[in-house]
Amino acid sequence: MEKLEETHMQQKRGRRLVLIPLPFQGHINPMFQLANILHSRGFSITIIHTHFNSPNPSNYPHFTFEPIADGLSGSEAETTDLVALVATLNINCVTPLRDCLARLLSNNSEEPISCIISDAGFHFTQSVADSLKLPRMVLRTGCVLTFVAFAAYPLLLQKGYLPIQVAHYHLPCINFQDSRLEEPVPELAPLKVKDIPVSNTRDPEILYQLVASVIKETKSCSGLIWNSFEDLEESALTTIRKQYPAPIFPIGPLHKCSPASTSSWLIEDQTCLAWLDTQAPRSVIYVSFGSIASMDETEFVETAWGLVNSMQPFLWVVRPGSIRGSKWIEQLPDGFLEKIKGRGHIVKWAPQQEVLAHPAVGGFWSHCGWNSTLESICEGVPMLCRPWFGDQMMNARYICDDWRVGVQMENGLKRGEIERAIRRLMVEREGEELRERIITLEEKMEICLKKGGSSYECLGNLVSYILSF
Ligand code: UDX
Repeated sequence: MEKLEETHMQQKRGRRLVLIPLPFQGHINPMFQLANILHSRGFSITIIHTHFNSPNPSNYPHFTFEPIADGLSGSEAETTDLVALVATLNINCVTPLRDCLARLLSNNSEEPISCIISDAGFHFTQSVADSLKLPRMVLRTGCVLTFVAFAAYPLLLQKGYLPIQVAHYHLPCINFQDSRLEEPVPELAPLKVKDIPVSNTRDPEILYQLVASVIKETKSCSGLIWNSFEDLEESALTTIRKQYPAPIFPIGPLHKCSPASTSSWLIEDQTCLAWLDTQAPRSVIYVSFGSIASMDETEFVETAWGLVNSMQPFLWVVRPGSIRGSKWIEQLPDGFLEKIKGRGHIVKWAPQQEVLAHPAVGGFWSHCGWNSTLESICEGVPMLCRPWFGDQMMNARYICDDWRVGVQMENGLKRGEIERAIRRLMVEREGEELRERIITLEEKMEICLKKGGSSYECLGNLVSYILSF
């Protein structure tokens, strides 16, 4: 085995990989974790990135960075319609990427490019790679089941499930009454109609087109890398292996095999770690809704009272701009900060992985983004789930109904609901059972990453595969 690794190191000298992340925090993080892992296996790394949400090269002096024009206007870059934004980037970046890669290929006689590794959401990279005769591998940063659901869009449309779910997003007050939202989707067990991954967009057709292109171009790729592991998503991986001709590499959780580094755009507030040191073991509920989700003033105030009334210590990340209509926490009720002194701590952005690993943290109230979900599993912290959009609803269903390591808040953000849910998670016997199960899952994850484990072996296969190009 060691001999084989040594041979790999020799073969790899001069091998360059070009990685192309989708420019959102939840996609940048796993792509950079993958870059670090492959760099530690001897590959040179070039990151091609848009100007929009560009990464900070000084955090990664061991990589080369190549910015490309993304052609976004000011209003396009500021939109909250992420589906339309991703669709636009897939059009605007074609020529800049082709020019950039052509230049790198002509410069790069000593370090030939083995392949590109693109986020699945950048489907346009397949035709660019084909035109330059470069193999294209794909990193899918979300769970495997989302991809199974995306591939089932035509069927879901035909059965009438998808328009209901999309309408639910556009007109939540009216369509919440639609009883079909609670119907199970037998083709995608354990999902209900309301869990089907969709995002709010001005025109659902753009979403359907985008998903169709992502699936089509992923079917043409040379290999598919997943930030997941066999024991977590065995059944979805079996389905995927039947649907995609290319080799499949579930090598996650990536953050556990990647050397520590930060790809955060926001500054991590380290003071919260010292605050956690003052709290009793497993007493604190950590609250964070990721890098995109936002709420209105009413939801914010209800959340604040729910946290206070639960009587549990809490660490709450309120991202600047995430409360619609305010800069940060100005809309907190008068006297709130005084009231929570010592028991509650609010920060703009936290070192999340360190927070989840801290012994004082006993629960994670999460929006169920895939990175947060994996990070919670890896630290054995049970979850309170309140998904917002996209893959988050199906991640929450997995967490609560399949792995049974979390509880879901399904009736909106109301202080009474929040208080009850926090106490279920943090104080009651149910929470203990969730913790026991998530610790078992964490142990399975650790086995996957050890020599002989599925993710470990898959990573070795991935390296050999890339060397075969
Ligand atoms: C987005 C989507 O919303 C998510 O559903 C999808 O799976 C990936 O893309 P995001 O909403 O940001 O991501 O959530 P998530 O996937 O959980 O990623 C957030 C990342 O930011 C995590 O790696 C987390 O550790 C990090 N984070 C979050 C911090 O470092 N500090 C914080 O305070 C909050």
